Amino acid sequence: MTLAVSDLFARPAGEAVGGLEGPWFARREDGRRWPLDPPLGRWLGPVDAADRSMLARVSGTALDLGCGPGRLVGELARRGVHALGVDISADAVHLARRAGAAVLRRSLFSPLPGEGHWDTVLLADGNVGIGGDPGALLRRCRRLLAPGGRAVVEVEEPGTGLVCTRLRLERGAEATSWFDWASIGADALPATAASAGLRVHEGWERSGRWFATLLG
Ligand SMILES: C[S@@+](CC[C@H](N)C(=O)[O-])C[C@H]1O[C@@H](n2cnc3c(N)ncnc32)[C@H](O)[C@@H]1O
Repeated sequence: MTLAVSDLFARPAGEAVGGLEGPWFARREDGRRWPLDPPLGRWLGPVDAADRSMLARVSGTALDLGCGPGRLVGELARRGVHALGVDISADAVHLARRAGAAVLRRSLFSPLPGEGHWDTVLLADGNVGIGGDPGALLRRCRRLLAPGGRAVVEVEEPGTGLVCTRLRLERGAEATSWFDWASIGADALPATAASAGLRVHEGWERSGRWFATLLG
């Protein structure tokens, strides 16, 4: 059976990450494979100190691109921030709405409300890799932002460089189709951001995760 990426978030309430069928893995097309937990547990869990360091950089209205189960956009809503999550996964959108967030089920590359008027765009937990071309995704962010707006982006550790590849998710004998993905390290971000008309304003590390704020 072919899995869908959105199956990641489809499990009966209370069932452990990975469910009865076993844990999830991500596989790169060069064969490298790694377990999706702890990240999957983090996406489904509460905000932690590293997440709060991202949220502390949110200014004004916020668009959380690929919001997953909504721990960040839900927390922003609880803080009274005008925030919208966007995700293609119906199960993620369901969970994010249950977390109290306003969420659209849509691709971030499709037309979105308020284009050119958002104060902050969030790309959390590797989401700068969505679509396999971080330069194109950052150009998309720039078009979503108001003049003077900022992108708050999670990246990989310095030394990672820019790796454009394809991934698939695996669970037991099942796998999703291959999809385009990229990893970008803090070292490669300045050049890629510049290609999108953005510059790195600030970079920081918290709990082994790496982040940057980008300005136009
Ligand atoms: C790595 S998870 C991150 C979840 C969330 N940002 C977090 O930190 O908890 C990636 C999310 O991006 C979503 N996604 C992938 N491609 C997308 C696209 N083109 N448009 C919107 N969401 C997308 C997936 O459904 C998934 O929920």
